[in-house]
Amino acid sequence: MTNIIENNKVSFATIKENIIEKFEKKTSAPLVEAMLNYKKNPMTGFHIPGHNRGLGVLPEFSSLIGLDVLSIDTTDEFDNLGTLHPATGAIEKAQILASQAFGARKTYFVTGGSTIANLALAFAFTSPFDEVLIGRNCHRSVLTGLIISGAKVNWVIPKKLNDWAIFGNIEASDVEEKLKNNRNIKLVWITSPTYEGVVSDIKGIAEVCKHYKVALIVDEAHGCLWNFNSKLPKTALELGADAVVHSFHKTGGAMTQSSMLHISKNSKFEDEKITHALKLLHTTSPSLLLLASLDAARANLQSQSGKKMLDGAIQNALYFRDEAKSINKLHVFEDKNLDITKIFLKMEGLSGVELEYILEHDYKIEVESASDEGILILSNIGNTREEFEYLINCFREISKKEYPKKELNNKIMPLIDPEIVMNLREAYFAPKEYINKNDAIGRISSEVVALCPPGISILLPGEIIKKEHLPYLFSYEKIEVIRE
Ligand SMILES: Cc1ncc(COP(=O)(O)O)c(C=O)c1O
Repeated sequence: MTNIIENNKVSFATIKENIIEKFEKKTSAPLVEAMLNYKKNPMTGFHIPGHNRGLGVLPEFSSLIGLDVLSIDTTDEFDNLGTLHPATGAIEKAQILASQAFGARKTYFVTGGSTIANLALAFAFTSPFDEVLIGRNCHRSVLTGLIISGAKVNWVIPKKLNDWAIFGNIEASDVEEKLKNNRNIKLVWITSPTYEGVVSDIKGIAEVCKHYKVALIVDEAHGCLWNFNSKLPKTALELGADAVVHSFHKTGGAMTQSSMLHISKNSKFEDEKITHALKLLHTTSPSLLLLASLDAARANLQSQSGKKMLDGAIQNALYFRDEAKSINKLHVFEDKNLDITKIFLKMEGLSGVELEYILEHDYKIEVESASDEGILILSNIGNTREEFEYLINCFREISKKEYPKKELNNKIMPLIDPEIVMNLREAYFAPKEYINKNDAIGRISSEVVALCPPGISILLPGEIIKKEHLPYLFSYEKIEVIRE
């Protein structure tokens, strides 16, 4: 029983919660159950993967990850676990439960991250004859998808938050302006939230899309938790998007590379098209470990303990934001529409990269990312209040110290408006040459240049290279351009 004792008495709320939890039917996770069964009833295997439940691996590796993990490292098609393409058996059941949890018409499990989900969406729903409207802060996988499909890209530029050197929200009025002026656009693709948690008005954008009869995809890669707590923003699935992508491995508790792609109840998209595209783009050997981790993550977030974890993450974020106010040199990014679990902050006198270095080396803390401007901290379902207390005390100490100034690394977000002179796909496949980056000003890029994380592009095939791009090309000596 949880220890909340007031005046030597366990509170009524705690007793009630524990009794309810005890009698609550365990949240069903069919794929996790099928995997347990697979593990308990091993057969003699003459099939892929050749390590045969861990027997054929380097001993150091098996002791690193454990025979338990290796014994369930398998792909679909075997032992009644079901198949992914087409979805059958326990995999299909798990996908159906996920779609019900999100109120989606259909949910697909994806083991190549949201990267594959985005590629599949572009492949399924755009063609070389289409025009699409894309938020400039999209992940590079959206662009790779459009290089594959050949669709013509129109950009909508998000608000630029220059004080923080990050992109902000996309205005519904900007989307409307673009759709009004170009009636050929058939699809709008927005990233919300941004990496730093800024949420766009998806309801407003969906209404505009409906008015102009165009489809709306929302890359909600960083917002998969929203569905499970009313204190977080509403998911785009509820607000009128036709398709939504969730990187469940980012914050949802699934294993790395595990994502979900949802088709909403009233979507204009045909399910068959995305089923087909995923089948063509997805690996033919999906990891059952990853698929089961998606089933487990969904079941966890629906369970009482998962709900507590998420509530804890929100409370920790609020606690941190509140405590941070008392540290003079510490500034935490706030916005009208924000996922508060993403905490972007800066410390006066230190670049984000320096702050990241200090936290790592002096305090053994790893943060999500750092730019010249600030660092991004995530309040996750796996973090404890003690960790946040430690973190805030570290910032208190750092704010009182003097650090020697270091050179900046130029890892800041690109806020340059693109000058497009060629179609993305045409430019990507055009004859090219490598030239010194300093000679490239005025030439047409044929490379996708994107800083990772968060994978937002600075320069794309078909865009003019400008002087302002050079600071962002610090890791390049030569750059690929269209041959003249
Ligand atoms: C907005 C956005 N979409 C898609 C992706 C790709 O996700 P994944 O790493 O799951 O392939 C990312 C990755 O950072 C992202 O930030």
